[in-house]
Amino acid sequence: MLSELAAIVGASHVATDPDITAAHARDWTGRFVGTADVVVSPGTDEEVAAVAAACAAARTPMVPQGGNTSLVAGAVPEAGQVVVDLRRLQRLEVDPVARVAVAGAGVTIGALHRAAAEHGLRYAVDLASRDTATVGGTIATNAGGLRVVRHGMTRAQLLGIGAVLADGSRVEHRPGFVRDNTGYHLPSLLAGSEGTLALVTSAQLRLIPLMAGRVVALQGFPSIEAAVVAGTAAAADGRVEAVELMLRPGVELVCTVTGLAPPPAAAAYLLTESSSPDGLPDDALVALDPADVTRLWSYRERHAEAIATLGPTHKLDVTLPQPMLAEFLTAVPGVVAAAYPDAGVWLYGHVGDGNVHVNVTGVDSGDEELSDLVLRAVVDRRGTISSEHGVGRAKARWLHLVRSPAELALFHRIKAAFDPDGLLNPGVLSA
Ligand code: MLT
Ligand code: ZN
Repeated sequence: MLSELAAIVGASHVATDPDITAAHARDWTGRFVGTADVVVSPGTDEEVAAVAAACAAARTPMVPQGGNTSLVAGAVPEAGQVVVDLRRLQRLEVDPVARVAVAGAGVTIGALHRAAAEHGLRYAVDLASRDTATVGGTIATNAGGLRVVRHGMTRAQLLGIGAVLADGSRVEHRPGFVRDNTGYHLPSLLAGSEGTLALVTSAQLRLIPLMAGRVVALQGFPSIEAAVVAGTAAAADGRVEAVELMLRPGVELVCTVTGLAPPPAAAAYLLTESSSPDGLPDDALVALDPADVTRLWSYRERHAEAIATLGPTHKLDVTLPQPMLAEFLTAVPGVVAAAYPDAGVWLYGHVGDGNVHVNVTGVDSGDEELSDLVLRAVVDRRGTISSEHGVGRAKARWLHLVRSPAELALFHRIKAAFDPDGLLNPGVLSA
């Protein structure tokens, strides 16, 4: 098998040395660590197809990886599986007239932004891991990020796709425009399939004009409820690009870890971005030039990194219906503390569309009861157990709380149609 893979991609692109493979064995959170025996890095779509065919012939499961920034163990391999690292797929073309990019799976979101900006354009998905997360990975996970409130998730940006099925056959559909109404929309189906249906090798992505200007405001509030009310109102403004919530303990931790100057003290903060300074509150910190924009965003974007310094984090990324948001945010620390008195609970999120990132530190990595407690609290309030990070292995056990038996039966039939031998990312999305 190893020599067959080496014949396809070249010996230097097949790794078995633990010094190299170790980074592929774990999830970004450090909570989930598996075993990466073999990491193969194909450089073309043809090589991906040949690798898949070789693995299929040997009945060896494949775990696709991009930037490996999954927060739900969506790409953690087990012994006997082959990691297919797709980062060498670096094709990147921008058509400024059609406002479309064709990007290989390995292109980072940051590189896509930079290429689009040369033509006065941008990609609507943006997230803190932009310089690591890849086009392929963000499609597989249907990544959300910071601008969903205005532009939708990754799925909404997808015009076309190139993919390799588990048996090595290739499927491509690249119409080049939004108005294509010709049957099952494979890009939509592969978005969020978490590597269980196919290996995404390239995508055709919709681009939008660069913002005319960037206006970022950071405003403090005396209570969570006041911030949520203001965030909901801000999200209703069609010009707003991002509406993010932070709480005082998280902002203080970010300042301690990063050395950023603390903003004026408040119980909760809203960070909003829009292209116009109209309607900004008098008491907000406002950034108009690029350095200040980056600095204000750092309070929010550096939360994950700051919390990670406290140890492996339980990440429970959820959405609540708007009327339940403030109550959930207020209640969840008590729900956790009742069972885990020493745990740290860190709350922040894309509040403009109901997202809350519940991060819990100081709990054993293998503890599943914490997830059960929090996810049931979410479902009791008619929320969903994954807002944007996906299901992975981490939440597969709880999928039945939000998807009906009829839906799950259909999931299994779709999986069987694409991957009848169950070779792609086993254990992900299904308990
Ligand atoms: C974020 O919004 O910062 C990311 O989803 C990462 C995280 O949840 O920590
Ligand atoms: Zn997020």
